[in-house]
Amino acid sequence: MYSDVFCKVYNEFGWNYYPEIFGEQLLTWIKRNNVNVKTSLDLACGTGVLCEIMHGYGAIARGMDFSSGMIDIARSRNGDIHYDVADMTVYCPDEKFDIVTCTGDAINHISEISDIEKIFKNVYAYTAEGGYFIFDLLNENEVSDSEPFEMDFTDTMKVWFQMTRPADNKVNLCIRVFEEGKEPFEENIRETIHDPAEICALLKKCGFSSVTCRDRLLDDAENHSTTWFVVASK
Ligand SMILES: C[S@@+](CC[C@H](N)C(=O)[O-])C[C@H]1O[C@@H](n2cnc3c(N)ncnc32)[C@H](O)[C@@H]1O
Repeated sequence: MYSDVFCKVYNEFGWNYYPEIFGEQLLTWIKRNNVNVKTSLDLACGTGVLCEIMHGYGAIARGMDFSSGMIDIARSRNGDIHYDVADMTVYCPDEKFDIVTCTGDAINHISEISDIEKIFKNVYAYTAEGGYFIFDLLNENEVSDSEPFEMDFTDTMKVWFQMTRPADNKVNLCIRVFEEGKEPFEENIRETIHDPAEICALLKKCGFSSVTCRDRLLDDAENHSTTWFVVASK
């Protein structure tokens, strides 16, 4: 679970730029594929940026995340969107959604493949017939060890970032926050690199009929080098 300090930094320094890019591409993808999206759910929605984009598009958008700090920010950004604080490995709402999304390496936050299977089974249950589950996955070729570097700063705050690969399939993202008048703060986010072929096979096992995994969502989009895009249809 992300700390409140990290959630604040994530929001204030605009680290949620990624769902903005993803959201723009998703709207184009929806249009090109003639998908009728009346309802959407964003799993591990963070500060709610993608939910806001889907809400703006006209869908009844919902979001969920297990960091209450993220959901507090999402609710304060838009009080019309329904947000749940929950763990996606057990989350299973009764409603069905035309599109379920999960971005920003959120699936890589789940280390056990058995927990990912639980998520996929639940997502299959609450995806509408003919609906889609679209998410990204870390591309292992783009993950490497880095030295710590200053990523962002204000007059009173500095944020350092370091990515390390402590084991072949593990990534650690270390964020250090130095704020005037406060003790330095450190957050370590541990991610697991999953084999895209294994993930696609698991989606099929959980019932999805067609599954693709590519380095871009749109044929003509520049690839997002650290990401695989997975599209599964029900
Ligand atoms: C890097 S952030 C991405 C947030 C947002 N999707 C974005 O693209 O900006 C990963 C998010 O996954 C959430 N998360 C991790 N494990 C989760 C779980 N088991 N259930 C729900 N949310 C989870 C974290 O709280 C965090 O907000």
